[in-house]
Amino acid sequence: MIDIHSHVLFDIDDGAHDIEESIEMCRDAYENGCKTLVLTPHFFDFKHIQSFVKERNHKIDILKHALREEEIPLNILSGAELFLSNKILTADNLDDLTINDSRYMLCEMPLGPFETDNVLMWFDELLDRGYTPILAHPERYVVLHQDFSLIDEILDRPILLQVNIDSINGKNGRGPQKMAIDMITRKFATLIASDAHDPIYRHTRLNQKLEEIPDEITADDIRLCLEQTPLKIINNQDIL
Ligand SMILES: [Fe+2]
Repeated sequence: MIDIHSHVLFDIDDGAHDIEESIEMCRDAYENGCKTLVLTPHFFDFKHIQSFVKERNHKIDILKHALREEEIPLNILSGAELFLSNKILTADNLDDLTINDSRYMLCEMPLGPFETDNVLMWFDELLDRGYTPILAHPERYVVLHQDFSLIDEILDRPILLQVNIDSINGKNGRGPQKMAIDMITRKFATLIASDAHDPIYRHTRLNQKLEEIPDEITADDIRLCLEQTPLKIINNQDIL
């Protein structure tokens, strides 16, 4: 499996605190069926893109070296989780923030109330710049529960939706669970990821999480969302 959304890189956001935690999460991922993990630290400081990229790449090099030393053959790739805001409209080139230097860009929005027009404007800016946005965990936004029309507007555009496996398993509550299962079974969402933040609670052990998955989610859904679509993303192939 390929996990395209994780906060496994150490000391760069609210994910892994140190290199030991990163190594533990990588080992857990590999031993639980994940062969490729994309490191997607939160990114919101659009004035300092290059200093973020420099720090991220340096830490990826350190982690790669540590994984070799520990003989953990997990393939780790670069990415980021962009926090969408008006800042994106005036930001410099964002190429270094895509997943594995592809056209695909993982994005999140404010979890609280927001203007739907703004969201569409931010997505259109990314599309105009030639990126294909992936909206992380749509099931976690209260606004989208109240107003499904924004999802329709998003799906009118070449934008992908990525559901968190914890939401499917009910860890984020009944509302997000229902919406997550609905989006997967109706093929609105074609991506599932861990969004792992730590080794214990929001962890990287995909096989363990799959044991708890509700019956509505089929083996074909899992293959599509955790293997086939993510493979196209990291290889920068067409999906939509
Ligand atoms: Fe995340």
